[in-house]
Amino acid sequence: MNRRVKIHPSILCADHGNLANEIKSITAGGADYVHVDVMDGVFVRNFGCGTEIVKTIKAHSHLPVDVHLMIQEPSRYIWFFRDLGADIITIHPETDKNAARTLAEIKAVNAIPGIALNPGTSVDAVRELLPLCKHVLAMTVIPGFGGQPFLDFTLDKIKALGELSKQYDFTLCVDGGISKKNIKKLAHRGVTSFVVGSALFGQDADYGETIREMKGLARN
Ligand code: DX5
Ligand code: ZN
Repeated sequence: MNRRVKIHPSILCADHGNLANEIKSITAGGADYVHVDVMDGVFVRNFGCGTEIVKTIKAHSHLPVDVHLMIQEPSRYIWFFRDLGADIITIHPETDKNAARTLAEIKAVNAIPGIALNPGTSVDAVRELLPLCKHVLAMTVIPGFGGQPFLDFTLDKIKALGELSKQYDFTLCVDGGISKKNIKKLAHRGVTSFVVGSALFGQDADYGETIREMKGLARN
């Protein structure tokens, strides 16, 4: 099967003491997006990337930026991140009292609207939002930290989302614990985009080699 597979390296897992080179290496290595985890210490129990990191990415790469907002009241920050150059803006409907309006706001600023679903959020809880977004990020770990093991119980939901992605025309992306071991079974369930953190950064292998290998596994 020939699929258009995209890899979104999660900059949270990069070596932040060497950020410019990390960004240049994933760009040269064939990444398709740079995934930025924004965390407010409230919705998730960690603090994550902010505006300075998006500016650094923009200064060192032509790649589009995929911003994953793990924050309360994401609607307050849509224009803020768009202004910095975010191309995909993904919100968690679990933390937004009016997610349909926020998705419309993302569309209005010409960014790609996305929703992220925690492992405990069902497809039924967000079904009405599916026609309003172009990107669905299925969390395959409890969000907050890189390097956690993939949660197998999310696989049934991913299969259901894979089928819905054709009906509603959104890109299905997964985030958390993605590696060479599980990428193929996710691709077979309809996933075409993959956030990759610790399986890429901090490994001995060349980034380009890992990205090529992962794309190859997902395509077959
Ligand atoms: C988890 C983040 C992920 C994470 C991915 O809260 O949303 O983007 O950094 O890292 P790995 O691939 O190591 O799970
Ligand atoms: Zn993420």
